[in-house]
Amino acid sequence: MTSNSVSSITVEELTEFRPGDLPDLCEAAEAAILDGGGFGWLTPPERDVFERFWRGVLVVPERHLFVGRADGVIAGSAQLIRAPRNNEAQAHVANLTALFVAPWARSFGVARKIIEGIIDTALEHDLKTLNLDVRESQTAAIRLYEGMGFRQWGNHPAYAHVNGRPVGGRFYYLDLTNPELIKGNKSSADVSA
Ligand SMILES: CC(C)(COP(=O)(O)OP(=O)(O)OC[C@H]1O[C@@H](n2cnc3c(N)ncnc32)[C@H](O)[C@@H]1OP(=O)(O)O)[C@@H](O)C(=O)NCCC(=O)NCCS
Repeated sequence: MTSNSVSSITVEELTEFRPGDLPDLCEAAEAAILDGGGFGWLTPPERDVFERFWRGVLVVPERHLFVGRADGVIAGSAQLIRAPRNNEAQAHVANLTALFVAPWARSFGVARKIIEGIIDTALEHDLKTLNLDVRESQTAAIRLYEGMGFRQWGNHPAYAHVNGRPVGGRFYYLDLTNPELIKGNKSSADVSA
């Protein structure tokens, strides 16, 4: 799919796939992977493997799959991962992971909307901290995260290995207890600490 403009962007948490969602999600993810930014994947898996992967995401209780739609078509996604039940000490801490937007839908605000949706959900569930990590080569993502208030707390010199070479990584957290630190999230203005 190609696009020069997008007139509507919506975000939702998916609990089931509606007709067309799974192929659209696979197609968007495959395009992002081939473009070099595939949330860990370096080459796209076979379609049947990929469909099983996404179905698997929906059945893991701690995983919450958020998708961004551009004019109704799934254009990107990210996941909110909560701690397992036995980890009571981190019951209020979650990870934001696997963010991507298909190249055809980039720069329209899809990723920002997805993260805003995840932050809103995290606040509704009384989460206090949102963690994430990212390859230091993903400069667009880093700019997005820092622009939304995520604070870097660490580096890893060999966070990933791509084409046989180590790639550094950055670790970030967002303090959800202080709405003033959450930038660009309109609903955060309504949240009391
Ligand atoms: C990072 C990514 C998700 C951004 O998606 P997007 O929908 O194009 O982003 P948005 O349109 O919502 O842009 C939001 C902000 O991101 C940053 N950004 C987006 N694209 C950028 C680019 N090409 N260069 C620098 N900053 C960029 C900007 O801060 C932008 O805010 P602005 O428009 O006010 O300048 C997308 O480029 C992508 O999928 N990249 C590859 C995968 C990846 O890196 N995932 C993160 C792994 S943790």
